[in-house]
Amino acid sequence: MTLPTDRDVSPFTPPSAITRLRETRPVSPLTFPDGHEGWLVTGYEAVRTLMADTRFSSRLDLDVVHVPYEIPGMPVATEPSPPMPGVFIAMDPPDHGRLRKRLTAAFTVKRMKSLEEHIARIVDRQLDHLATLAPPVDLVAEFALPVPSLVICALLGVPYEDRESFQANSAQFLVREQPLEDKMAALGALTGYLAQLVTRKRAEPSDDILSDLAAHEDLSVEELTGAAFLLLLAGHETTANMLALGTFALLEHPDQLAALRTDPDLMPGAVEELLRYLSIADIFYRYATEDIDLCGETIPRGSTVVVSLLAANHDPLRFDNAGELDVHRNARGHLSFGHGIHQCLGQQLARLEMRAGFDALFRRFPTLAMAVPANEVRLRTDMNIYGVHELPVTWS
Ligand code: HEM
Repeated sequence: MTLPTDRDVSPFTPPSAITRLRETRPVSPLTFPDGHEGWLVTGYEAVRTLMADTRFSSRLDLDVVHVPYEIPGMPVATEPSPPMPGVFIAMDPPDHGRLRKRLTAAFTVKRMKSLEEHIARIVDRQLDHLATLAPPVDLVAEFALPVPSLVICALLGVPYEDRESFQANSAQFLVREQPLEDKMAALGALTGYLAQLVTRKRAEPSDDILSDLAAHEDLSVEELTGAAFLLLLAGHETTANMLALGTFALLEHPDQLAALRTDPDLMPGAVEELLRYLSIADIFYRYATEDIDLCGETIPRGSTVVVSLLAANHDPLRFDNAGELDVHRNARGHLSFGHGIHQCLGQQLARLEMRAGFDALFRRFPTLAMAVPANEVRLRTDMNIYGVHELPVTWS
């Protein structure tokens, strides 16, 4: 079978073919559009085991590898190509660790905690702006995208005034099926912009993460640019889609929203549950560098392996009533931020943004409601990060 992406059950449920596969063969062969054979991993245990095993490579340039689909957030490779310098999500040890360790200090829980007030201010200002608009309003454009964009720009030291061009280019870059030259043009525009920016940061540092990174003389401008690209892309597209799709999911589950409104202490747990339930960063790729036994199946060396975090997070063997959104659930152990050495670097930041964002949105807009029927909402099945293209909302 080929990789199904259609949300044929509900906007929040894995494609039914994926669910069936997880039930019958959680590690199963998959035929790619170019005809070569690979593997699809959908069971929770198998996905977790695989992501912890560095014999499954994240690199794009191994000569044993075919790259038939785009890697989320990565340039599509039609033939083996060297990884983009600095883009450590597509690297293996020791290169991966060399770059990642430069950034971990900047993303500690403590550092993120100190950002809390700043994030709350950004959220409040954006909601002040929302309140001046006459509904119906697109929540993506007016709230869900600006908040993480403002936060990541401030953190990295990217001038927010430049957002129109980098937002358009990163959105274009994430389109799933498009001519390679369009994708590369978007990538080129983004990296051209960021190369100038990091060069400036190196010459005139200020108080931000890119300046800190640029102070490491052993990192080249290309590496700094790649790392900046990864952070900027990962830092706003993901959280923006969680805020929008999470709002959609809560509005479609009024009992869950009511529970959350009654008891705001449920918020941290509810955010974990939304992360699990929605799994907006779903599909990831790995490559077997040797023959590897995975939950009873032998994955031959050189295989391209696709993992579905969404399928894993909806596995009833791991989560009771996995298909239900339940804000009371203990969703810890979900795989939405990945697992192993590549586990999301920005997860604490994303959590803070989501807690602050959902909390303030539902407090300030107690009558928030969908402005269109749920089946008219355009889903991002065409994009590498799932979510909604627009979310028309209203209030009274
Ligand atoms: C709700 C929002 C987010 C989700 C669901 C998410 C999800 C993920 C996942 C699944 C991975 C693992 C990829 C892999 O194993 O190949 C990852 C890695 C990463 N994420 Fe996030 N992410 C989110 C927000 C963020 C934010 C806000 C930032 C940055 C500020 C960020 C930066 C990164 C980076 C740099 C990596 C690569 C880490 C590495 O390779 O060592 N993410 N993310």
